[in-house]
Amino acid sequence: MKWQRKDILAIEDMSVEEIRHILHTAKVMKEILMRPIKKLPTLKGKSVVNLFYEASTRTRTSFEMAGKVLGADTTSIAVAQSSVSKGESLYDTAKTIQAMRADLVIIRHSSSGSAKFLADILDAGVINAGDGQHAHPTQALLDIFTMEEQLGEMDGKKVVIVGDVLHSRVARSNAWCLQKLGVDVTLVGPPTLVPVEMAGLGVKLTHDLDGALPGADVVMALRLQLERQQSGLFPSLREYSHLYGLTTERLKKTGKQSIVLHPGPMNRNVEISDDVADSVEALIERQVTNGVAIRMALIYLLIGGSGNVVA
Ligand code: CP
Repeated sequence: MKWQRKDILAIEDMSVEEIRHILHTAKVMKEILMRPIKKLPTLKGKSVVNLFYEASTRTRTSFEMAGKVLGADTTSIAVAQSSVSKGESLYDTAKTIQAMRADLVIIRHSSSGSAKFLADILDAGVINAGDGQHAHPTQALLDIFTMEEQLGEMDGKKVVIVGDVLHSRVARSNAWCLQKLGVDVTLVGPPTLVPVEMAGLGVKLTHDLDGALPGADVVMALRLQLERQQSGLFPSLREYSHLYGLTTERLKKTGKQSIVLHPGPMNRNVEISDDVADSVEALIERQVTNGVAIRMALIYLLIGGSGNVVA
């Protein structure tokens, strides 16, 4: 297909054809990434700016590495040491980056809609690296890439996503992506952390993890945002872990050789036990590697033009 998009803001406005094209491009990118010498001149002369207003290890570093492998100049703005700390608005920060002639801006921000706001005012491409509780499209893409790498096409397979669905942009983007690709998705968590509106996405909702697990090909644990306990959304970590934590015993209930995913960072022995996190079924490190491949694909598609990627 001919790539038309300037920005990657959310899975919800992407077509299945676009998603498939990204996954196909990421396969080529992964082969390049696994080479002993992984440096191409493809994006020489292009500049990519990381603008992260929230903490990140995986997403920020993988975007930086992805740009570098493709030969782009990548710059990460340390927001705490930038003029944001003097009160500069997102609008003025964005215009300043544009004046430096950046080709692509990667943004993570606590406000839902911030990536769209940036995309509307910038000529440069914009990739949403997580905006509030709204979307984390590159995470959903690396998740489906990992699932299909291990299990083949996911159409008709069953994925259970368990945890704090309410506050999770990862759950939202995954729900959009998986249902577009014909996957049977069940979202699980305590009643206070699973909003009923999510059923509108064509996914199943339940509060009973043990009842949801039989037949699951993939079980994805979400990070429990520990600050939510203060808001009274769940009574205690112990009870949460008892009802919704992934343990080896509980995983047997799938009745299959299921795989386990977690977007990270993990709260070990809260939403996922040590033995599950470190088991062969857990593809958590593979998700991180695939995150670089997906982000290489997206950077290439947005600013690579029609050049041949393999030098
Ligand atoms: N999964 C994810 O977004 O991780 P980081 O917060 O470390 O980027």
